[in-house]
Amino acid sequence: MLLAHISDLHVMVPGELAYGVVSTTPYTVEDYPIRLIMLDTNVPGKGHGELDTERLSWLEQQLSQQPDRPTISFMHHPPFPTGIDLMDGYGLTGLKDLERIVKRYRCIRRIGCGHIHRPIQKLWAGTLAYTVPSPVHQVSLDLTSDAEAATFTMEPPAYQLHLWSEESDLVSHTQYIDQYDGPYPFLKPDNGKNEVKLKERATP
Ligand SMILES: [Fe+2]
Repeated sequence: MLLAHISDLHVMVPGELAYGVVSTTPYTVEDYPIRLIMLDTNVPGKGHGELDTERLSWLEQQLSQQPDRPTISFMHHPPFPTGIDLMDGYGLTGLKDLERIVKRYRCIRRIGCGHIHRPIQKLWAGTLAYTVPSPVHQVSLDLTSDAEAATFTMEPPAYQLHLWSEESDLVSHTQYIDQYDGPYPFLKPDNGKNEVKLKERATP
């Protein structure tokens, strides 16, 4: 199974919902071997995120129903400060309670987020929380300036793909969207000799 997670959308599917809609209705996707929990952190009309009692209760209820099923939880705002002053100023409230819940459920393989427009990872509450790069502009990697000096750049747009299998669990790839030179083969064709070598290498 391959899933795409694009950071700039406030509603992230696979599912039936319309892209680009700001929603406060959380939902789950149950159609795949790995379960997806879409937890909305947005506060309509504001830049910061919020997890109030109602949203946290819903999350806990969902997790308690299938505590052993591999799960990715998606939300717009990351649950950790990034060091980028501007974005941290529009962070997430309700973190303590979220951390308490997430720590209890080892089934959460990732917490995938957007908002920051940069690829950032942090081990948090016993899982890997991350933000993905944006398919449009990126927030500049500036860890020294204050919010008023913040900038954005047109670094390459990218997205993230998650590959799931029972054997490998969850493997996450970041892929650039633009076209670049290549692909070029690592080995030159030479009447099939390299093919034999590759087969030998693959044999345990
Ligand atoms: Fe945002």
